[in-house]
Amino acid sequence: MHMKHIAFIMDGNGRWATSKGLSRKEGHKAGFDNLVEILKECKKLGLSSATCYAFSTENWKRPQEEVDFLMKVPIDLYKVRKQELLNSEINVQFVGRRDRIPAATLKAIEDIEQETSVFEPFTAYIAYDYGTKDELVRVFEEARTSNKEITEEVIEALLPVPPIDLLIRTSGEQRLSNFLLWQLAYAELLFVDDYWPDFTPSRLHEAIEEYNERSRRYGGL
Ligand code: FPP
Repeated sequence: MHMKHIAFIMDGNGRWATSKGLSRKEGHKAGFDNLVEILKECKKLGLSSATCYAFSTENWKRPQEEVDFLMKVPIDLYKVRKQELLNSEINVQFVGRRDRIPAATLKAIEDIEQETSVFEPFTAYIAYDYGTKDELVRVFEEARTSNKEITEEVIEALLPVPPIDLLIRTSGEQRLSNFLLWQLAYAELLFVDDYWPDFTPSRLHEAIEEYNERSRRYGGL
């Protein structure tokens, strides 16, 4: 089965940093650098989209300093990495709530989305202040207020992220953590032990080989 859409739960940045005597912030910085490399590799491999979990609706509970750092990442993405994304022809779109994001961060998000939106063949969705329960409540509410019948097709059309073929969670944890539960309905799940900053493009190739070896029957025979 040809893979089109891969998703990543980029776990273990903090433990990666601690294991090297670095701060958690440095772990997220390394994780961010790795994300850009992995997105470029996904594009090279001919996938149509990749989605990553950058900030969950629950992550606001982290220490303020860490939240502040993670809220600045989209600004760096825009200021420091934009040219690289344009050169690589990566369309960057954010999914999740927008009403709690600081104004300067939101501006960077909207600018990067707008300036990369021409690169339709490959989209990187960044889940940011994202949680499935929050997303589905908003989608059901939208369907209800526009007097739409609640059907699978209607809900699917209102969800920005398409169905996922393969989910990879790094750092050995085996949970979905409120991430894209609808879109993962038929996904293959792969849990790897590497911390996210150590999940190199060559590890990505191994993961895709594993995916290709699994048979996918969608509940049939
Ligand atoms: C999980 O590791 C990682 C996160 C909560 C943040 C991931 C964010 C990035 C990689 C930066 C990219 C962001 C954008 C907006 C492009 P953890 O901190 O839970 O690690 P731990 O479990 O070892 O503590």
